[in-house]
Amino acid sequence: MSAAIAVTGAAGFIGSHAALALLERGERVLGIDDLSRGNPGAVEVLRRTGGERFEFIQCDVGSADAIGRALRRVRPEVLLHFAALTYVGESVQEPMRYWRVNCAAAITLLQTARDAGLSKFVFSSTCATYGVPGGDEEPARPGRHDHRDPVDRPISEHCAQVPINPYGRAKLAFERALLDEHDAPPSKDRPPLSIAILRYFNVAGSDPRSRLGEDHRPETHLIPICLDVALGRRQHVEIFGEDYPTPDGTCIRDYVHVSDLIDAHLLAVDRLAPGRPIIANVGIGRGFSVREVIDACRRVTGAAIPVRSAPRRAGDPPSLVADASRIRGELGWVPRFTALDETVASAWAWRSKHPDGYA
Ligand code: UFG
Repeated sequence: MSAAIAVTGAAGFIGSHAALALLERGERVLGIDDLSRGNPGAVEVLRRTGGERFEFIQCDVGSADAIGRALRRVRPEVLLHFAALTYVGESVQEPMRYWRVNCAAAITLLQTARDAGLSKFVFSSTCATYGVPGGDEEPARPGRHDHRDPVDRPISEHCAQVPINPYGRAKLAFERALLDEHDAPPSKDRPPLSIAILRYFNVAGSDPRSRLGEDHRPETHLIPICLDVALGRRQHVEIFGEDYPTPDGTCIRDYVHVSDLIDAHLLAVDRLAPGRPIIANVGIGRGFSVREVIDACRRVTGAAIPVRSAPRRAGDPPSLVADASRIRGELGWVPRFTALDETVASAWAWRSKHPDGYA
């Protein structure tokens, strides 16, 4: 039987898609999730698909004893760390919670994994670690317009990382901890560590066979909210800020399909090597404004999707678009979903079949 792979956040949106892809490759998967935000329904899909190749433990990534025991028993070759809190706005409201889960618990997990002899670690980082590309440390104030056109500024891995919200700062702090552990001299008990840090842009879409989808509780993400409106579950979409320095005044994001994102992980896992940390952006390299996303959702669903203007959401940079040349060039990653309508259509295929999500 093949070596196992440990997946934290296996009941979450991205982690469940990763676990499913690994099971489909014939791997054994140890899924770890505390189900505080993850979906038991996603775990059921993984159980059905993986059978005895899938094992699930419900625990927090900071639970060193439970995770240490599971890692020693299953002996996974690599750990993919997806589990995290992921709401920028919430991180501004409850910063300590974000530092505890996304940084402190992640450090405990890394330590636990190292103590259990694990030597390959892949970390889900984020473009939120860059902050406002080329900008300063403060979020732009309403009415303030940059002289730059941010649409013309894709973010490369060389850009300064100056996050503007606690979510990005806690993720960046763990990137640094992981790199320090990678750089530490190996010893008899601690083999050299091979790592990948993948900085995701906005992940969207769902499993092309509609077995898994995007179902956050609470839901704050733009595409699922638009689909909720299309389903009649919400009255309208609020547009958070229309005075950003972008062509239509709304924020621009780079929407990468979850299946393409998982492909990037599989490529990274295959290339993990000591002394050669992989640090790469994962985005398609093209940005869409909030208004463009809403229009795509209208085209795909055929629904009117009414909108209302709302104030800016704290912590939102105006534009985040990836320069994805490194991952394309070094890992040979080629995203299959580059048309926004196709990404939205795959999200809609799952959501329209599951109007209540996993509930
Ligand atoms: N937006 C709205 N109305 C809504 C929801 C969102 O106008 O009801 C806007 C946001 O202000 C933002 C854009 O749509 O400008 C995208 O917002 P999402 O909440 O869908 O995604 P975010 O960009 O805030 O965050 C996501 C992930 C983070 C990740 C980040 C990187 O949740 O984990 O992408 O950009 F770090």
